[in-house]
Amino acid sequence: MAQLWGGRFEGETDRLAWAFNASIGFDQRLFKEDIEGSIAHAKMLQKQGILTDEEAGKIVRGLTSIYADVYTGGLVVTDQYEDVHSFVEANLIERIGDAGKKLHTGRSRNDQVAVDMRLYTRNRIVDIEHRLRALRVVLLDLMRAHVDTIMPGFTHLQKAQPVTLSHHLGAYFEMFTRDSGRLKDLCNRMNVCPLGAGALAGTTYPLDRDFTATLLGFDGPTRNSMDSVSDRDYLIEFLSALSIIMMHLSRFSEEVILWNSNEYGFVEISDAYSTGSSIMPQKKNPDIAELVRGKTGRVYGDLMQLLVTMKGIPLAYNKDMQEDKEGAFDAMDTAEHCLTLFTEMIRTMTFKKEVMERSAARGFTNATDAADYLVGKGVPFRDAHGIIGRLVLSCIEKNCAIDDMTLDELKRFSDCFEEDVFDAVSMKTCVERRLTTGAPGREAMLAEIAASEESLREDWTERFDQDSDTRRGGENDE
Ligand code: ARG
Repeated sequence: MAQLWGGRFEGETDRLAWAFNASIGFDQRLFKEDIEGSIAHAKMLQKQGILTDEEAGKIVRGLTSIYADVYTGGLVVTDQYEDVHSFVEANLIERIGDAGKKLHTGRSRNDQVAVDMRLYTRNRIVDIEHRLRALRVVLLDLMRAHVDTIMPGFTHLQKAQPVTLSHHLGAYFEMFTRDSGRLKDLCNRMNVCPLGAGALAGTTYPLDRDFTATLLGFDGPTRNSMDSVSDRDYLIEFLSALSIIMMHLSRFSEEVILWNSNEYGFVEISDAYSTGSSIMPQKKNPDIAELVRGKTGRVYGDLMQLLVTMKGIPLAYNKDMQEDKEGAFDAMDTAEHCLTLFTEMIRTMTFKKEVMERSAARGFTNATDAADYLVGKGVPFRDAHGIIGRLVLSCIEKNCAIDDMTLDELKRFSDCFEEDVFDAVSMKTCVERRLTTGAPGREAMLAEIAASEESLREDWTERFDQDSDTRRGGENDE
């Protein structure tokens, strides 16, 4: 048991209490960020004359060597330390001696963990955004390829009106574009640096918080030191954004599962992303889609846990906040895996165009258009609605589609039907005439695709990425 405190204590910590209190098992994920934050802090202490050049140099070199050793496997993070911060500091002191004991000047683990977690989260937001973008790129390719692939559009899971596959996928493109916007908003909002807030009330040392904020790629320091050490809003926002991403993936998964079923047969998931049954040899199951749908609840759970953890915590830092990590890491990992797998599953899936088109043609999805046709011939819409309703009923009895009827048969329902009805209610016409903004008609869809392309042109992660390149591992130091 190696700890950062002890002077005030006479007795030993109970073993169970020690283990219960420790966070090294999970906060070692913050190792890289802990080193980065510490290097920035040391450089600032040097600039402010709180550390000598020699001391700061030793600290930065020491931290850089610890970073390198952990990454090459020469140094292993073990649970003899309470947390990642203690691990780094103890190893630093072991390597460089007394200078290492000065690193924590003007710093508390409260602002230290706050900055570590923010840096870590910012990196993960960027990672998630990259996955989201990859999914949107795949969707856009499919949208371009299927502008003319007709399929039934549904309401109440009943065939409603014909749309195109391009249009249907475009709906998901919109959802994921909003998700990207949410990530961008929250990433910009959270990009302030809590380092220098101390335990809760700042410090008496003349720290330059703007300097550390800049070194770490933040827009500036946080404004209130008590808020700095106890704010977890940005994590809650991120988990909310991840929950919404998962909700979208889950809806999409549900559709893939339906489409891949024997009854629909709209798609076939590639072998790489399906699994078999141990007993039923004919089965090819959509497990990946089902798991994405299933894991959505897990991410919601992570969000709920953090909301509940935070709701009763008085200012400022309280140890409950250590509970912000495991759930958050779980949500980030889960969403990232789901995005990656889902994207590949969609990219490699076969879309059965003929089955989709046949399904649209056999589901009276042109009934609204047939009514509109009669309206065009002067029949009031309400009457046209009734006429087509009776016509559909008769088609159901005959097991045929509206356009399978002969003109004579149609005329029995209304003498306004003429030869041009067949073209008017063909699937192709039904889709092509839907040209309002956002509708599936070719021209409207091409405009939507162009706007989608435009939305992909912006890469808001660049400013966060660049920063992390220059910071990475403090390699830029001596
Ligand atoms: N492991 C702690 C956490 O994750 C680090 C901060 C500890 N601060 C303290 N005052 N004990 O929250």
